[in-house]
Amino acid sequence: MTKSASTPAPVQVTVTGAAGQIGYSLLFRIASGQLLGPNQPVVLRLLEIEPAMKALQGVVMELDDCAFPLLADVVTTSELKTAFDGTSYALLVGSVPRKAGMERKDLLGINGGIFKPQGQAIAAHAASDVRILVVGNPCNTNCLIARSNAPEIDAERWFAMTRLDENRAKSQLARRAGVPVRSVSNLAIWGNHSSTQFPDAWNARIGGEPAASVIGDEEWLRGDFLTTVQQRGAAIIAARGASSAASAASAAIDSFVSAINPTAEGDWTSLAVVSHGEYGVPEGLQFGFPVRVDASGSWQVVQGIDHGEFARQRITATTEELLAEKADVADLLGG
Ligand code: NAD
Ligand code: LMR
Repeated sequence: MTKSASTPAPVQVTVTGAAGQIGYSLLFRIASGQLLGPNQPVVLRLLEIEPAMKALQGVVMELDDCAFPLLADVVTTSELKTAFDGTSYALLVGSVPRKAGMERKDLLGINGGIFKPQGQAIAAHAASDVRILVVGNPCNTNCLIARSNAPEIDAERWFAMTRLDENRAKSQLARRAGVPVRSVSNLAIWGNHSSTQFPDAWNARIGGEPAASVIGDEEWLRGDFLTTVQQRGAAIIAARGASSAASAASAAIDSFVSAINPTAEGDWTSLAVVSHGEYGVPEGLQFGFPVRVDASGSWQVVQGIDHGEFARQRITATTEELLAEKADVADLLGG
């Protein structure tokens, strides 16, 4: 691309599992400017395992054929050092998706081992401003594994993706209320990206009013709403024969956009971040919280949210599941 005085230097963006389903949506959105905006050139650094390198070359041919003005270069590799060299944004997608009948945590034995060396490589080779979003499942605990193996990087720079659940929950509430999805705000996903997650409709708002009052159907909120959001990934696998991909890529873009830009006044966003003990969640877990980002780009967990007994029980259940997952991967955790 032509570089003018006003064109910023390209930013390095790493995507792992780039030849996979999510990669096939994600790369084109990043290259078209939807991650970092319409003026920021990017270099895509694409990691794949050897058997997928040929497919990856095909994806790169398609990226070429889009002639994206912001795409300064594409690097393909199966080496961690090259993938993470100088990267400022790392999207850790590459891993095996679950099949029908599995829970996401059943993938820990297959996928957990991927994230220890990736954490170490990010610590050794990434740019000092790196931020990392873990998408590969089970994403909270995979993020914990990678983060714990990269003690040189601020724990605040690590995120796991609960945004797809937020988007799903907002969509369900909007449909039920008969309003556009943009009317729904303050929807937080608490805990694990799993079937124990707690999508908190009771502190959400619809058109600025408490969502539970607008919906006016507590039984639906505690029943169908909750289970639909908790089980949406499985429902998509049952319908499509493959796990969500375009919506996952969209949520990955949403996650990073929300993590690096100030949050709209009065609202919050769902990100799984390192717990500092907020709401009694044990320190160090990678836990889905409502988060606000300030003008300086720092995030904080929103404080002072009231939970009734129903919510507290569910937040306890999802916390216990994350503690059990952590215990299962003790051998992969760094100091
Ligand atoms: P996919 O099988 O289509 O693609 C995964 C890609 O990762 C493959 O191309 C594979 O070759 C590559 N890969 C495997 N091991 C790798 C490694 N060690 N290094 C680099 N690349 C590697 O799967 P997908 O549909 O793209 O899903 C990817 C992951 O994202 C799965 O774990 C899935 O469960 C998860 N996911 C998470 C969410 C979420 O909300 N957090 C949503 C959807 C999917
Ligand atoms: C999803 O929520 O769609 C993903 O985590 C994929 C899955 O296994 O459910």
